[in-house]
Amino acid sequence: MHDWLALTGRPALVVGAGGLGGASALTLAAQGARVVLADVDEEKLDRIARAAKDAGSGLRTVVCDVRTPEGCRAVVAETTVLAGPPQVFLHAVGRNVRKPVLDLDDEDWVDTLTLNMSSAYWLGQAVGRLMVEQRYGRMVFVSSVSGLLAHPHHAPYAATKGGMNQMLRVMAREWAHCGVTVNAVAPGYIETDLTKDYLDKGNNRESLESLVPARRLGHPEEVADAVAFLASDRAGFITGQILYVDGGRVLV
Ligand SMILES: NC(=O)c1ccc[n+]([C@@H]2O[C@H](COP(=O)([O-])OP(=O)(O)OC[C@H]3O[C@@H](n4cnc5c(N)ncnc54)[C@H](O)[C@@H]3O)[C@@H](O)[C@H]2O)c1
Repeated sequence: MHDWLALTGRPALVVGAGGLGGASALTLAAQGARVVLADVDEEKLDRIARAAKDAGSGLRTVVCDVRTPEGCRAVVAETTVLAGPPQVFLHAVGRNVRKPVLDLDDEDWVDTLTLNMSSAYWLGQAVGRLMVEQRYGRMVFVSSVSGLLAHPHHAPYAATKGGMNQMLRVMAREWAHCGVTVNAVAPGYIETDLTKDYLDKGNNRESLESLVPARRLGHPEEVADAVAFLASDRAGFITGQILYVDGGRVLV
């Protein structure tokens, strides 16, 4: 069973060094992938690079801002120089503005669409070009249960995740004959910087836990394990799928 995932030596670009991207980068690096981790926040990059080193693996880091097509193409080009053209790609950046629709301003909408969905498109297109050329690729996007459920106060966020799901299904269909798979993991509530403040407020944590059939929130490592599987050789016949990692949240 050694190297069952067959990730050893594979160039992997992970965009997003936060809770879910950081945990996934560490898991991929532990499985032997040549990980390049990219984020706008240098401190987070350093923290994950140190954790990888402490765990006996390693990864390269790139500071980037993925809110423009040029920024996205630059990080893909830099990854190619550092590790080779990506064979594995994970998109794990995102923001959420929790407001009722009637209270949202124009920036809330545009900024959320740009970071969550346009960056997924720009990065997916740039990486997809290299994967199609190589006739091999494993692309994974971090979607959300919000792409399916209608949580109040989540309009821009839910729109980006629903849009991402449809975008990746089209990419999956277009690139399937080239050995490139495109899938998503769709987590329920996982404690990271994105959710921490909200979970710490009032009885939010308890009331969210009560909505999960597993009666608990998820851990970043549980999302990372699903990412590693979809990023592996073992998942070569799975494409265009949204894998919910949610303790059963979307069942209720
Ligand atoms: N945490 C959850 O419960 C949860 C649930 C479902 C989906 N998700 C999704 O998972 C993904 C990652 O979320 P997370 O929980 O790890 O959040 P996080 O806030 O911990 O990480 C997000 C990362 O994105 C980086 N980033 C922000 N703007 C950037 C930019 N312009 N350029 C480059 N990097 C930028 C941040 O520095 C941060 O490291 C998001 O798409 C989020 O929607 C999270």
